[in-house]
Amino acid sequence: MTRKFGGKIAIVTGGASGIGKELCREMGKMGAIVVLADIELEKAQQAAAAITDAGGEAKAVQVDVSDAVAVHEMVADSIDLHGRLDYLFNNAGVGIVGEVRDFSLDDWHSVIEVNLAGVINGTTAAYPAMVEQGFGHIVNTSSMGGLFSFPIGVPYAAAKHAVVGLSTSLRAEGAGLGVKVSVACPGFVRTPIWQTAPVVNADREEVLAKVPFRLMDASRAARAILRGVERNRAIITFPFHARILWILNRLSPSILALFSQKTVGDFRSVRKGSQ
Ligand code: NAI
Repeated sequence: MTRKFGGKIAIVTGGASGIGKELCREMGKMGAIVVLADIELEKAQQAAAAITDAGGEAKAVQVDVSDAVAVHEMVADSIDLHGRLDYLFNNAGVGIVGEVRDFSLDDWHSVIEVNLAGVINGTTAAYPAMVEQGFGHIVNTSSMGGLFSFPIGVPYAAAKHAVVGLSTSLRAEGAGLGVKVSVACPGFVRTPIWQTAPVVNADREEVLAKVPFRLMDASRAARAILRGVERNRAIITFPFHARILWILNRLSPSILALFSQKTVGDFRSVRKGSQ
């Protein structure tokens, strides 16, 4: 992988934490010049400092991905500085846990604005520049919740499904223009999102105790994404549980529906108030 990422310019949104931070760390080790773009400036600066301390090249910038103007400026500044952009990882995301009957419209918006509009903002900022330069790779982070039914996080599933559709469709347009597009659809990964995602109408620890899969390490997740990027995969999905559920959904959606029903039942067993 070293040759592929060495000397490349990569912007990673959500680069201050979790999967994004590990993507930056891995690419930094491989000689890429990484821009950690995150709403949390201090954390991004700390993550960037760790990369530079280890001999890599990294810079932190503050950006709210839901702010289209700010994202366009951030991407343009980076292209001005480096003369090109090789990779944009639209990775920033937020979670939400609960049932639609308990969500407010604001809950929906808070997820859609970051997880979908954030990807649109990054893509519209970088794609035309990549077309113009004749190369580049956009890598969007969706989720296994973007590939099949994902109850108890319906706004998240809606945004992540849209990101898969955006990515696979844009991939077809970009192919003849030199621009690659991939979408990462991880299963469950151990990151701070499990502590920061709002849990509506239930106790976080009780919900977490019901998670049916072991969480994967964020560094392994980052390496899996980068391997997929290197191979220019359209959809990068991992670990084993995500791949199995994805295959099952295509072979027999009714079996996957049973799994979804179990997820709903597990949540309702800890939901506050009437079940
Ligand atoms: P995380 O919470 O560790 O990292 C998310 C990063 O995004 C944070 O640094 C946060 O400050 C940043 N961010 C949030 N809102 C932002 C905004 N408006 N503008 C700029 N930055 C913002 O979470 P994690 O798990 O690393 O998530 C990364 C991506 O992976 C997300 O898109 C998430 O939906 C996706 N994902 C995570 C999975 C998991 O189990 N952890 C599974 C599947 C997908």
